[in-house]
Amino acid sequence: MSLVVVSNRITRGNANEPITGGLAAALLPIVEKSGAIWVGSSGRVRDGVQKEPFAEIEALGAGALAMLDLPAAHYGGYYEGFANSALWPALHSRADLIRVSQGDYLSYREVNAFMARALLRFRKPDTVFWIQDYHFLALGAELRDLGVDQPVGFFLHTPWAPRDVIEGVPHHRELVEAMLAYDLIGFQTDDDCENFARYLASTLGLSVNDGVVTSQHGTTRIAVFPIGIDVEKFTRQATKAISHPDVSRLRRSLNGEKLAIGVDRLDYSKGLVNRIKAFDRMWTLHPSLARTVSLLQIATPSRGGIEAYGNLQNELARLVSEVNGLHGEVDWTPIRYLNKGFSQTVLAGLYRTAQVGVVTPLHDGMNLVAKEYVAAQNPADPGVLVLSKFAGAANELDTALLVNPHDIDGMARTIATALSMPLIERRMRWEAMMAKLKGGSIQQWFTGFVEALQKARVDREAASRPVSRPPFIWPLRSVSG
Ligand code: G6P
Repeated sequence: MSLVVVSNRITRGNANEPITGGLAAALLPIVEKSGAIWVGSSGRVRDGVQKEPFAEIEALGAGALAMLDLPAAHYGGYYEGFANSALWPALHSRADLIRVSQGDYLSYREVNAFMARALLRFRKPDTVFWIQDYHFLALGAELRDLGVDQPVGFFLHTPWAPRDVIEGVPHHRELVEAMLAYDLIGFQTDDDCENFARYLASTLGLSVNDGVVTSQHGTTRIAVFPIGIDVEKFTRQATKAISHPDVSRLRRSLNGEKLAIGVDRLDYSKGLVNRIKAFDRMWTLHPSLARTVSLLQIATPSRGGIEAYGNLQNELARLVSEVNGLHGEVDWTPIRYLNKGFSQTVLAGLYRTAQVGVVTPLHDGMNLVAKEYVAAQNPADPGVLVLSKFAGAANELDTALLVNPHDIDGMARTIATALSMPLIERRMRWEAMMAKLKGGSIQQWFTGFVEALQKARVDREAASRPVSRPPFIWPLRSVSG
């Protein structure tokens, strides 16, 4: 089998460079080890109608990276437009933020079709295609239109929202019908998979039996594959990174004070405003915690050209400066707020330095920061994870301190509890979480999906074969006298 993995964002795997988003960080180790070809956007665009899509190819561990220039005329409508101003808010149940136009939708479809044409050059008889995330909902259907009959699977890294929110995207029906060209569709959680099945039943009138739906394209399996991390690698990185200059400088600057850490893309789904308000509330309710704990919030900008993201960046900057102005002292800053990315190695060291990890999204497919924070801890003195119950990770990391990110008072109380938790309880909670992480690593996610995809393809082919019937025998006409 030769595997071709496709995602919009890719990473070149330079250990000293930041990686934007959990998807790229998760795919990197599996491409490096499995020898797959990883195809994605180069971040550059090209003018004109390209007959031959241009891809720059380089080695990535045992695998390869193919970086594609996307068509200039459609890139904006595809990426900032339909993918991130219509689909992203809908998938995260923010129907109020959906902005959509027919032009953006057409650009989205154009880029999906363009990617399908580009993938043909990587096709061999034994190729398996694995498409990632909401940027490419229609890519499977485009590949089928080009005659691709190899297994094609899809994994959604975000949540799948309830039906009424999805229907807020005017093109929902065409898109979901196109998705049924995939042999296998994977989700992060049972809730996402159930929402999708309910949509199929209520909107398209298609029922799911034993995880299989039959449509005009044939049969499609839908199933849950919670994504994990490379636990051992992250733990090793964290142990080493503790002596990294950035990490040592942070430790020295703390003067024995405790640290809480939040690391997110600057996105409205991450609950950053509520988190800052919870820290404000905590220092107001417990003035004794001033000077004894500070927050390091890393919020890496992305999708800055979209209005909702620009507004959020301004709102957060204002809020952080208000809270610092209110609780700060001449020699103490309550919140260190950074709008830049850090390499995985440095992040691992920062996580290990912090006594509390705060991961409080309003809604999140999985959230790998939560898993990385746990994997980075010192087993002898682990920190405490404060985790939103609306992150997919809460299904597995159920011994974290689970919070409702809309409840500011509740979060303030829970962060204070985390800070004073006795060592014995911290260890018990952490050990239970580590056992879950080891039982659901990125390697298991990868193998589980690819095996299920190959099986789903075999089942689809079997289901499309005409049922063999006994030969038809013409009845003899009775010859009567
Ligand atoms: C989320 C999405 C990913 C995306 C990442 C970074 O995790 O699920 O598909 O790669 O955000 O987003 P960006 O728009 O900056 O590539």
